[in-house]
Amino acid sequence: MPTLIGPFRQLLPLDNLPERGAIRDDQLVIIEEGGILVEGEKVAAIGPFAQLRADHPGAIVDETTEDLVAMPGLVDAHTHICYGGSRAMDFAARNAGISYLEIAKAGGGIWSTVQHTRAASKEQLTALTLERLDYLLQQGITTVEVKSGYGLSVSEELKQLRAIQAAGQTHQSDVVSTCLAAHMLPRDFDGTADEYLQTILRELVPVIKAEGLADRFDIFIEQSAFTTSQALDYLRALKAEGFTLTVHGDQFTAGGSEVAVAVGALSVDHLEVSDTTEIERLAQSTTIPVVLPGATIGLGCPWAPARRLLDAGCAMAIASDWNPGSAPQGNLLVQAAILAAFEKLSTAEVLAGITQRAARALGLNDRGVLAAGYLADIVAFPTNDYREILYQQGRLTAKRVWKKGVRGGKV
Ligand code: NIG
Ligand code: FE
Repeated sequence: MPTLIGPFRQLLPLDNLPERGAIRDDQLVIIEEGGILVEGEKVAAIGPFAQLRADHPGAIVDETTEDLVAMPGLVDAHTHICYGGSRAMDFAARNAGISYLEIAKAGGGIWSTVQHTRAASKEQLTALTLERLDYLLQQGITTVEVKSGYGLSVSEELKQLRAIQAAGQTHQSDVVSTCLAAHMLPRDFDGTADEYLQTILRELVPVIKAEGLADRFDIFIEQSAFTTSQALDYLRALKAEGFTLTVHGDQFTAGGSEVAVAVGALSVDHLEVSDTTEIERLAQSTTIPVVLPGATIGLGCPWAPARRLLDAGCAMAIASDWNPGSAPQGNLLVQAAILAAFEKLSTAEVLAGITQRAARALGLNDRGVLAAGYLADIVAFPTNDYREILYQQGRLTAKRVWKKGVRGGKV
């Protein structure tokens, strides 16, 4: 028996927007007094509530009485929420004038989180990840990508990936797991960077495949991590194994986005220092740029050129990058709203960037829009005007969330 949810003062299906490039707000379809007919895990129909009610007299009605604006459940396409410890000292150090790369060079940064993550049990990491997934679900985020990358040895990466898998199996949200064993060359590895990457390919990849721990691999291409040529060999080998690829690129120095395009990565994330050459190259490619305003806010560094990426024709997504170092905040709406103000993004561009375009950056074609046949992942905000959501910069929080048609967690 289907369920009819509504009426929503405004319902934004976000299903008719261009796949790539700039979007104007007048391209948004807004259904006034809209309803969503849900059958099992999926949307069966959307339209005016009264019409759906008349057409489906047998439907169970989940009637809303307050002002609500509904849209597809949000997708956070880039996080590192499986970690132990804190990096409050890094934040203070950076604000005292020491750069992210200097902290990394001195043995802090990612390496310090590796110590805390290694010290935690798999069960503790699962519990920490679940807490953070709860916080994301409260924001209306119903699909979350989670990376490893704080284990940095075969056994510790496995522990982290298994913790992510367990969290995904327990939590209502969908978790997309990514192996980031190539986050940096671990300081205790007895060998070169090439040897480390070879070890990952030889010893970690077979277990990941056998246990279904991840379909995706990521690498950090940066002075403090891996070079472009190391990354090219590594990513090509992983591609031959059938994995989907993503890259941390162009954060402090350019180079990563070129590699991502060359290997046909699904996305390249960060891009704070991408310039005309990089932007044009991305625009000509199928690699999706994912910008991470939370890292700009955490580090106090430039914004990724979001406006230029969109104007060049990219299918840009926006993600939180929630991690203990560069982006400790974990509030995607706050970050996307601030990015919009600085980069002059339309509301439609931001909403697409945290729904359908973010889903596409994860290779997911079954969500991020509300239309018949898509997952019934829905978020509703307590307002009668969709523009309030970004205007309030995160103060307006989700009132109701449905994941695959089921009311979400504590929201
Ligand atoms: O996306 N840039 C590399 N990785 C993370 C930061 C990880 C950390 O500092 O712990 C990022 O910003
Ligand atoms: Fe990241």
